[in-house]
Amino acid sequence: MSLSVVILAAGEGTRMKSTLPKVLHDLGGKPMLHHVLVAARALSPSRIVVVHGNGAETVREAFPEPDLHWCLQADRRGTAHALMQAIPQLEPNDTVLILYGDVPLIKSQTLRELLPRTIEAQLTLLTTRLSIPTGYGRIIRDAEGNVQRIVEENDATEEERLISEINTGIMVGRASDFIHWMPRIKASNIKREYYLTDCVALAVEDKVKVRAVCINRSEEVQGINDRIQLADAERVMQRRRAETLMGQGASVRDLNRIDIRGEVTVEQDVSIDINALFIGKVHLAAGSRIGPNCVLCDTTVGPGTEVLAFSHLEGAHIGANCRIGPYARIRPGTELGQEAHIGNFVEIKKSRVGEGSKINHLSYVGDAQVGSRVNVGAGTITCNYDGANKYETHIGNDVFIGSDTQLVAPVTVADGATIGAGSTITKDAPAGKLTLSRAEQQTVKSWKRPEKKPAH
Ligand code: UD1
Ligand code: MG
Repeated sequence: MSLSVVILAAGEGTRMKSTLPKVLHDLGGKPMLHHVLVAARALSPSRIVVVHGNGAETVREAFPEPDLHWCLQADRRGTAHALMQAIPQLEPNDTVLILYGDVPLIKSQTLRELLPRTIEAQLTLLTTRLSIPTGYGRIIRDAEGNVQRIVEENDATEEERLISEINTGIMVGRASDFIHWMPRIKASNIKREYYLTDCVALAVEDKVKVRAVCINRSEEVQGINDRIQLADAERVMQRRRAETLMGQGASVRDLNRIDIRGEVTVEQDVSIDINALFIGKVHLAAGSRIGPNCVLCDTTVGPGTEVLAFSHLEGAHIGANCRIGPYARIRPGTELGQEAHIGNFVEIKKSRVGEGSKINHLSYVGDAQVGSRVNVGAGTITCNYDGANKYETHIGNDVFIGSDTQLVAPVTVADGATIGAGSTITKDAPAGKLTLSRAEQQTVKSWKRPEKKPAH
């Protein structure tokens, strides 16, 4: 028995009110359809067929992976019509799992439980119970509890609408059965669409056993039809990710105020305060602490390092026991050695800062190599750009740079040098010496502060 997965993803997504195809809307940093593909691939199926239509080219381009079989549904005439398009790609002996592109929170473990354990013909539906089932197809059972059919909201009677057990859309059956059922489905409903859900009644008619697996984790099967449901799904996904981090030894201060739009790995005793946003690949080593309202993108944080409130780090390698922020901006290509301190309103770009060096207040350091145990005074900047090209600044070990210094690159400050405050350094500063550039201070003895003229 080989497994084929068919993902229905051609719908218009009218309720999103968007030019972007629905299945490309972002959920946890990836398009919605990506999550369905991850769940599908975890089952190692022999084939994944994606039925697409609305924004076909854009959708295909977003998923260039070679394992996908694309199938175009040019005019969208319902979910059965969508499956019909995929039929030429299926083998009659296949077991077919149907997934929806707009039901992205489904877990592969749940899907595994739906797969048949016998070769007996059966149609398995995944259902759940909702206190407010509005909008979903309802599961109609007979007096013995056997599933008889599914009725869509629009076609349901008042009484049927009271049924809380709903169709998640996810089902498993034999390809040969679907091949027989599809041409028999009629568009005899209010929307004049071909409903895949009608194959349940056909299965009953053909004496094919219908099994409904009802799960109580209904957030896993919530469909996304509008932006409110998308935002709800985002919270479910974020909570799952936060719980995973907690399972690995991280403390997350508030499960509802963390956003992971990528992959975060943590070691033990990491702590993450409220409103952290993680993008791309982020690693937080043992005992590191992320303060409130920080953004970390493609960054590794060393053990014991503390990132204080409102800091923004991107493309950086931060060593052990560093202290960053509050209000620091670390830009791509930055490497901090252990115990480096980067303080408030400091921007570092494409620079290496050595062990124990401190750049604590209001500085810009770009395209620089800064040695170990260096102290960079407040307001110091590297002038790395002449309007056309960028140049490097080299600062040796044990250098002391006085406040409000401009280092006009390319320039080198050798080991142990001291730069006087307020200097504009345009030439290399020698090792172990005091270098400064400063107009001489003078006091004008004859000067008098002007006085306010009396009002008339
Ligand atoms: C569908 C089910 C409903 C179920 C609900 C669960 C039917 C008739 N109804 O309703 O019983 O409770 O999902 O979320 O199946 N699609 C196509 N081509 C089409 C139409 C739809 O590929 O012509 C795709 C959509 O992209 C979407 C999925 O099929 O991924 C479901 O379509 P949608 O219009 O969202 O159906 P619902 O009204 O949500
Ligand atoms: Mg839907």
